Amino acid sequence: MKLSKLIASVILTLCVIGLNAQSIIPIETKDFAMVFQTDSQNRLWNVYFGNKLTSKDEYRKIENQYYFPSSNAGISNSAYTPSGTWNLTEPALQIKHSDGNLSTELHFVDTEVEKNTNWTLTKISLVDPVYDISVVLNIKAWESLNVLEQWTEITNNEKGEIELTKYASANLYFSNTDFYLTHFQGEYLKEMQPVEEKLSQGTKVIETKLGTRAMLMGTPNFMISFGKPAEEDNGLTLLGQLAWSGNYKIEFEIDSHQNLKLIAGINPYESAYTLKAGESFKTPSLIYSVSSNGAGGASRQIQSWARKFRVLDGEGDRLALLNNWEATFFDFNEQKLSKLFKDTKELGLDLFLLDDGWFGNKYPRNNDDAGLGDWEVNAKKLPHGLGYLVQESKKNNVKFGIWIEPEMVNPESELYREHPDWVIKQPERPIKLYRNQMVLDLTNPEVQNFVFGIVDNLFTENPEIGFVKWDCNAVIYNAYSPYLQKNNIPQSHLYVDYVRGLYDVLERIREKYPKVPMMLCSGGGGRADYNFLKYFTEFWPSDDTDPIERIYLQWNYSYFFPSITTDCHVTNWGKQPMKFKTDVASMGKLGFDVDVSHLSETDLEFAKQAIENYNEFKDIVLHGEQYRLASPYENPFASIMYVDDNRSNAVMFNYLHSNRWMERMTKRPIRLKGLDVNKNYCVKEINLYPGTSSTLDETAIYSGNFLMEIGINPEINVQRNSVVLLISEVNE
Ligand code: DGJ
Repeated sequence: MKLSKLIASVILTLCVIGLNAQSIIPIETKDFAMVFQTDSQNRLWNVYFGNKLTSKDEYRKIENQYYFPSSNAGISNSAYTPSGTWNLTEPALQIKHSDGNLSTELHFVDTEVEKNTNWTLTKISLVDPVYDISVVLNIKAWESLNVLEQWTEITNNEKGEIELTKYASANLYFSNTDFYLTHFQGEYLKEMQPVEEKLSQGTKVIETKLGTRAMLMGTPNFMISFGKPAEEDNGLTLLGQLAWSGNYKIEFEIDSHQNLKLIAGINPYESAYTLKAGESFKTPSLIYSVSSNGAGGASRQIQSWARKFRVLDGEGDRLALLNNWEATFFDFNEQKLSKLFKDTKELGLDLFLLDDGWFGNKYPRNNDDAGLGDWEVNAKKLPHGLGYLVQESKKNNVKFGIWIEPEMVNPESELYREHPDWVIKQPERPIKLYRNQMVLDLTNPEVQNFVFGIVDNLFTENPEIGFVKWDCNAVIYNAYSPYLQKNNIPQSHLYVDYVRGLYDVLERIREKYPKVPMMLCSGGGGRADYNFLKYFTEFWPSDDTDPIERIYLQWNYSYFFPSITTDCHVTNWGKQPMKFKTDVASMGKLGFDVDVSHLSETDLEFAKQAIENYNEFKDIVLHGEQYRLASPYENPFASIMYVDDNRSNAVMFNYLHSNRWMERMTKRPIRLKGLDVNKNYCVKEINLYPGTSSTLDETAIYSGNFLMEIGINPEINVQRNSVVLLISEVNE
């Protein structure tokens, strides 16, 4: 540790302990505080979560104001709830010690603080007074953004092996109010569907056991609104996510005094993890943003945090692309692709993405039932190889990107024939396929090398590849690892070591290829979290690209993810016109997945103009602040806007999504948000379909005050069911 850091942490340690005999540890952000306090037996309790107080000294007065019974029968506000001793509620930590004993107790040792300009990291050390294990609670506060990240490190200092049966990332505690939980469930083509419920006494659990595609049927994202149902602009709201790409479990336990205990971590389901003497286990992070300005305030904070501190190249540029998946599916050859390169250029896009179907010879990938795993170019479809395609696209001034699904294998493949022991499957049971495929055993270092090699070979042989789409279409059935078995490692390590193996591969890829943009896809929106997004620039939210559905889907994802991470493509899905589809896709990272020769002349003309416009305003959408103005759940229309950092330029998207006669037009203005009250703005309609003109008065000048108090009527109606407005500062 550097001397300056050491001095800072010593001083802070003394401050914490010096307050009084019972230590108080306040963790503060710009507006909020979470306070821990020890009791006479040196156990650590979470005594406060709420607005920051002006004087730190007063945090110690809080505890007396609450009823925290020593029996722990009804309430447990432990900072990290152990099990097998005094605790009678859901634990955060369960250990089988080396002698087989199941009891754990945690006593406070000390606190160490590290600081830099963006965050303060508080490390709270706890130990068991009887068994030699230690636990460090890490709490990182990005103060200015009111974002917190918590993870835990558990170390086995016993002489023998211990088994962690539950090892949560974080254990939060909120006292005495009504809590409204919104969680996001779904399935393929129906991802990220919100459900809001008032939590009542007992435990509500959100979890997955799918192994891979962790977000397919439910997601590790949640929203808690305190005291009342969630609102966009008002009320204390917490948006959280467990940043782990495998099985997660998040428990919300309400006691009879209406307190909420939240425990989030890797799902303990079939995942007991052994630690040898001296070994440590670091959990993934729980990341959350807190705001008293509703879901809107909390989501702008987490979006901003993600762009600045987490997403790979989160503040960089993104290239709009043409993808061939829905234009050709598996049926393409060099000729068809050459035409698509030209289409990419003609549309004004920067990148062409070749999807599934380019590989496999003995088992050609002409369908989804064969070839996966055999990553050599299919000589029949592409006789001149990938290098030729890269050069052909370059001739059109278009970058070339490629699809892979490196974690998976079809039984109909050379890979499976050669390495049946590289696959997750029960040795004595019939194999079970998901989309005709199985999952490779990424606990195995040889398999990790193979997966790394797929990407490495692509880049080594074709250094000009400018984009990768990394797909994942199967879940883990028959969870059994031949590698763990062979190496005498418990099978219960599989779910955790799979994800760790995958992260190791991604780490190696990013060490060698730090910047190449990579899209995370999972048979639609089965994967997106803030651990993956350290390695990926973006993700695919859903194969459902019907623009009406996309309004809802993108709305829901946007609580947690900035638009720069969200890939939105115009496809043949949905009955809406080209303009509607393009406008909806322009709210994220824009792409097209269409056969240009099937577009009408005016659609083509429109698309070209809209792409040009997108390139003009994308900086605001990708890097600006997002405001959800009118919810599609509450109105026949939806309205969303993005504002740049100076509050000088904004883009507002408006859609009519209802077909009801009585709801055929907006009859009132929609209030804008995020502008400067003291600035003046003009409003111009863009993305007009050829032959149409705007019905708005574009000569009018409005103050920011007017636009935010009264608003503007975008005049959407059945003829104009999608309207994009550019709001620009006027200096006179
Ligand atoms: C599933 C993805 O979601 C699609 O976009 C496409 O890449 C297919 N896989 C290809 O098999």
